[in-house]
Amino acid sequence: MTSDEIRDSFLEYFRKHGHAIVPSASLIPADDPTLLFTNAGMNQFKDVFLGIGQREYTRAVDTQKCLRVSGKHNDLEEVGYSPSHHTFFEMLGNWSFGDYYKQEAIAFAWELVTELWQIPKERLWATVYLEDDEAEKLWLQETDLPLSRIRRCDKDNFWEMGETGPCGPCSELFVDMGVEAYPETANDPDAGPNTSDRFLEFWNLVFIQYNRNENGTLEPLPATHVDTGMGFERITSILQGVDSNYKTDLFTPLLTTIADLTDTAYFDDERGLPHRVIADHIRCLTFAIGDGVMPSNEGRGYVIRRILRRAVLYGKKLEMNEAFIYRLVDNVIGLLGDVFPDVLPRREFITRTILGEENRFHQTIERGLERLDQSFDTLKEKESTQLDGKRAFELYDTFGFPLDLTEMLARERGFTVDDVGFEQNMEEQRARGRAAWEAKGGAKDEEISVYAEVLKEHGETEFVGYTQNNIDAEIVALIADAESVASAQAEDEVFVLLNRTPFYGESGGQVGDVGTIENQNAKLVVQDTRKPSPDLIVHKCKVLAGEITPYTSVHAKIDTARRKAVAVSHTATHLLHSGLREVLGTHVGQAGSLVEAGRLRFDFSHYESVSVEALRDIEAFVNEKIRGNDVLSISEMSLDDAKAKGALAFFGDKYSDIVRVVQTGDYSVELCGGTHVDATGELGFVKLMGESSIAAGVRRVEALTGNTAVTTIQEDTALLSSAAGLLKAPKTDLLERIERLLQEQRELEQQLQQLKSQHALGNVDALAKDATPVEDFRVVASCVADTDRDGLRRLVDELKNRLESGVVALAAVAGNEVAFVVGVTSDLVKHRGLHAGTIISELTQLADGRGGGRPELAQGGGKNPSKVNAAIDATGEIVKKQLQT
Ligand code: ALA
Repeated sequence: MTSDEIRDSFLEYFRKHGHAIVPSASLIPADDPTLLFTNAGMNQFKDVFLGIGQREYTRAVDTQKCLRVSGKHNDLEEVGYSPSHHTFFEMLGNWSFGDYYKQEAIAFAWELVTELWQIPKERLWATVYLEDDEAEKLWLQETDLPLSRIRRCDKDNFWEMGETGPCGPCSELFVDMGVEAYPETANDPDAGPNTSDRFLEFWNLVFIQYNRNENGTLEPLPATHVDTGMGFERITSILQGVDSNYKTDLFTPLLTTIADLTDTAYFDDERGLPHRVIADHIRCLTFAIGDGVMPSNEGRGYVIRRILRRAVLYGKKLEMNEAFIYRLVDNVIGLLGDVFPDVLPRREFITRTILGEENRFHQTIERGLERLDQSFDTLKEKESTQLDGKRAFELYDTFGFPLDLTEMLARERGFTVDDVGFEQNMEEQRARGRAAWEAKGGAKDEEISVYAEVLKEHGETEFVGYTQNNIDAEIVALIADAESVASAQAEDEVFVLLNRTPFYGESGGQVGDVGTIENQNAKLVVQDTRKPSPDLIVHKCKVLAGEITPYTSVHAKIDTARRKAVAVSHTATHLLHSGLREVLGTHVGQAGSLVEAGRLRFDFSHYESVSVEALRDIEAFVNEKIRGNDVLSISEMSLDDAKAKGALAFFGDKYSDIVRVVQTGDYSVELCGGTHVDATGELGFVKLMGESSIAAGVRRVEALTGNTAVTTIQEDTALLSSAAGLLKAPKTDLLERIERLLQEQRELEQQLQQLKSQHALGNVDALAKDATPVEDFRVVASCVADTDRDGLRRLVDELKNRLESGVVALAAVAGNEVAFVVGVTSDLVKHRGLHAGTIISELTQLADGRGGGRPELAQGGGKNPSKVNAAIDATGEIVKKQLQT
């Protein structure tokens, strides 16, 4: 069977058993701050397991793009060495949401594997959780497995998504790869799953029944579920009768291309390690970048950048010193593009992004090597042989040098690396990364169970805000401190859930609504509205007066003026998106946005800064469409129909089967749940305020809308008029006038400087007269007013000429700093051993500073002006002391 046939037969088997085939979610988990990347098929259903989300089906099946490169599940270091671990892989999965449980899950698995796929029964083994008698009984009852091929395990059989989240005991299926390939197991009576690589795990059946809380405790979920995950590349290797994923049709075409491009044949042993790593990494890069992760220095982007750099470094092992990995993107898309079609329109963008990163990294490597060589030189000087951990980490962090590369380079030059110190630095950085992630939104752990109860009891919140601004509704729950409460009084802060609401919960970049909720007993002000899951809307309120209780009727009313201003910004965002694509190209894709009253921020993929001219064109495009007063048409349709219409979706958003499509004129079609104006003319005027970079390949444009745009222009114009008034010039001459003023100022400064120097030189005579004789030469030491370091240097030179034989030490005070310059005539340097550098070093120390330089001329600075006279007065003594040594 080809890999495509295997994937199809899995989906088809479960479809026949009542499972809805769903598309893979993005590699960027939607609304889940606990997770960097999608790491399992169940991620997109997390809200259903927790009981705070619902779907139209209770059984589902799919193939999910997964990355296991960070957090709890991380296989990065095994890639290339292991025949069956990857960064990116496909996970086939079937799910039951409160529908069937252990018995059917085991029966389905057994039938598919032994009957449809005909894996010989005698090669199969199963494991169950240590305490799961029920699962063991079911394996015996539903399958032909003897008890001797069912093992009980502890940690390996309790599956968890991450540090927190849904989890439960699991049962895994293994295939025995044969004692011939693993002769060392021949006489081991304990040989079995989790004891040797001979037993390859390929399917995990998880019986989800708990949520792991932040404090580590397990909380039972409202219902029990089945979550299975099968390593697609592994099952393909098993069914294709090979002993490595790299020998399947998923990888062989890639390995062949890599061998061609690098002109280095592929072998399935140690020599082929770089090929395998690159083949693995390019799949990861293609889909991660395709899903909108841009290589950068933080978060997801940082992980992707490191993987790309790893691939480049393995390329260097194949003597590839220039970009070539980007050329594999076509190959990956050729193999998997039909399975994950979101990647298809992004081919060029992905290719260009990887090419840019590769080129930059090759330059960085050169610089990193230079830095490393400098470090080795310093170590040699210090007669040390170990590179410290901080430096190794810096090479890793700034130049992308993995520790093993630094160690290799160090070894070649006879040095070692402090890997413990490296790890310490690494751990500190990880902690910083975790803190950054945890700071972001999402439903808080302790709130999840109470939201789940509300959803179970009252169903989802009905949102009526697309058509209504105020409505009578019923309070279904009041929540304070993560618990349902029976009432709230004046001054209390409380989260309110209604059966239906006109309030828009913050999502898709659009801020939540504000407004009021009231009845005859109480008045609440709604300060913000949030959506902890797609099905629930929560109003963050403060009680102004009275007492409020659940199950009472209230009138909920949004602040319509603010909502209108937000709608203006949201429609403006769509026009801006079109304008960017029109002017810059269709590679522009939304990477984030903030839509609020009076202003908006739009982040998008683009490789370089946006020129002033392009910004002007985009602004003109937006305002032209506003004047066109195009009517917006908003409709619901299936995701497939929307895609067929060319609707733009936002990377990382989660869309259900029925989506809302917002169309404006013939130039903008977007999947969008936000609120909008009826026609573009309502926007009046949009002003772009400039652009900036927020990560490599991601730019940000900010804009003002509505009245904020108008008042800002008014203020700017008034400012210009005042400036023109001040300079007594018409506005049109303003720039020229300012340039002229600046020029005049520069000239005046120069003149002033010259005058100061002349004045100082006038001092030369007086200073020379004041010189003190020391033995047979003279010493001038003085604090000079009104000059700077340059002036001091000129004075010192002049005085040295005048003295013919002597020492000059001058200081000048400017603010809190003291400048010192010391000169020694060359006869004294040669014959009497005097050194300006040593003199200045002592002098400056007396004024709390430092200095140094050549024997004839040295300079320095002090930080304590009050000590400058004492320092200067000590010059004679310092010189005398030097003569004696
Ligand atoms: N969620 C389970 C896993 O990833 C199936 O192994």
